[in-house]
Amino acid sequence: MARTELRDEDRAEVAEFIERHWQSRLSMSRGRKFYPHQESGLIERRGGAIVGLLTYHIDEEGMEVLTLNSTLEGAGLGSSLMLDAIEKARKEGCRKIFLVTTNDRLRVISFYQRLGFRMTAINLGVVDEARKVKPQIPLIGERGVPIHDEVVMELAIEPYLEA
Ligand SMILES: CC(C)(COP(=O)(O)OP(=O)(O)OC[C@H]1O[C@@H](n2cnc3c(N)ncnc32)[C@H](O)[C@@H]1OP(=O)(O)O)[C@@H](O)C(=O)NCCC(=O)NCCS
Repeated sequence: MARTELRDEDRAEVAEFIERHWQSRLSMSRGRKFYPHQESGLIERRGGAIVGLLTYHIDEEGMEVLTLNSTLEGAGLGSSLMLDAIEKARKEGCRKIFLVTTNDRLRVISFYQRLGFRMTAINLGVVDEARKVKPQIPLIGERGVPIHDEVVMELAIEPYLEA
């Protein structure tokens, strides 16, 4: 395991990784634009190469996970990155960790629910709006399902108890 925080010297490589996996460096969430390689993140490397990446943004609302990728599917890496992010959110005093995914992503929605996330909102048509800004967002997603809506998933963070 070689896990590090995303540092300035990683940003060009992270931008390239994100573009390869998401067809764009731009990430859209709830009508807001993010460039995840310019944000915070956790990187997992094997033999120097990035095999896992989680990027996030912290503000007064909490920690928003912007991207999560694991190239070693089914080996526990995706879960482990998310568990580290939850711990980071707790240390940073965030009251929640959340993310948006799309209406077609039923398998990944199960993955987040197993980690304790709940579906807290469906933003109707917000992906159709985002597609006007980011045309790389496909019209049809998993299992031929048309992509229209955002699914917001969140996990409330229990604060550390003061001794
Ligand atoms: C989702 C993802 C991060 C999981 O990483 P992982 O290292 O395989 O995760 P773990 O081994 O900890 O957990 C396995 C679970 O991940 C989910 N998963 C695995 N491969 C997946 C895939 N191709 N698409 C969606 N979910 C997947 C499943 O829930 C799986 O459990 P299951 O086999 O019982 O269905 C990884 O598949 C990935 O990078 N997918 C592409 C990018 C993506 O969709 N990111 C999430 C954005 S909302």
